[in-house]
Amino acid sequence: MSRTAQRHLLTIDDLGVEGVQRILRLTDSFVEVSERRIPKVPVLRGRTVAWLFYEDSTRTRLSFETAAKRLSADSMNFSVGSSAVNKGESLRDTVQTIEAMGVDAIVVRHKSAGAPKQITQWLDASVINAGDGWHAHPTQALLDCYTLRARLGGIDGRRIAIVGDIKHSRVARSNIAAFTALGAEVVLVAPPTLLPPSLVPFDVTVSHSIDEVIGEVDVVYLLRMQLERMHEALVPSLREYTATYGLTAARARRLGPDTVVMHPGPMNRGVEVAADVPQMPNAVVTDQVRNGVAVRMAVLFDLLATEADPVFGDDGEETDA
Ligand code: NCD
Repeated sequence: MSRTAQRHLLTIDDLGVEGVQRILRLTDSFVEVSERRIPKVPVLRGRTVAWLFYEDSTRTRLSFETAAKRLSADSMNFSVGSSAVNKGESLRDTVQTIEAMGVDAIVVRHKSAGAPKQITQWLDASVINAGDGWHAHPTQALLDCYTLRARLGGIDGRRIAIVGDIKHSRVARSNIAAFTALGAEVVLVAPPTLLPPSLVPFDVTVSHSIDEVIGEVDVVYLLRMQLERMHEALVPSLREYTATYGLTAARARRLGPDTVVMHPGPMNRGVEVAADVPQMPNAVVTDQVRNGVAVRMAVLFDLLATEADPVFGDDGEETDA
């Protein structure tokens, strides 16, 4: 029997406030496991997770792989670049081939919004969205909420500025959903060309001046210019963008001592963020990456562990629940 009714993780909205809070609570336990001498527990022994990354990834993929290993799950490595996808195999045939070999979950990253949801129609396995087009990246939002909660003690009532290329950002969409669900006020800071065509679905305010907001927010969340998704020139030049919207060294000096600086990576130092800013004590970029592993352990556990599974033995020793 499944621990929760949830079978897939596709968006933050599907998870709901309670689901987000459940994952954040579970993450506390997996942070503790990750700090052990042997950071491994047997809770997903015998389960298999497959990776299906149709888009490049460093952090998300490595952190899902590490999370699965720490839970003792087996994983099926699949590299789109060297697979039969290059011979014209469809997404449906690919996932059904993987499922036929026996998997409990498929972690998917795809350039098309909605691909993970489509896959749920074809399989019995759990599907986890590791980023679909501009649409959603729920585990990034969960790790950001966890990191912020750890740094600020809570998210409710905080003011968070998300700065940059919001139009093309699945991270922004999932973070708006998660931050507002947890009671934060979100302000989007971007030129009009880098905002989504409609802001109606979002409970946010907008500013076109980073200088007006940086002194007044608790968090500055920076986004990369996602040039690979742009089909036209949306800013006059990257230099101009840095001058008007970048977190330059001069702007960083104007941040309050407790204002948190975040970035999901990959960073383009010198464009949206000055080279030295990610090393400032205010910046939590490394914490985001570290917490990403524990958050993904929590997500895999939440979807795949059953009531009968043993929980959290010390140093990998199995305990009876
Ligand atoms: C992001 C992504 O792929 O959506 N990166 C990540 O997962 N940490 C952000 C980006 O590509 O800019």
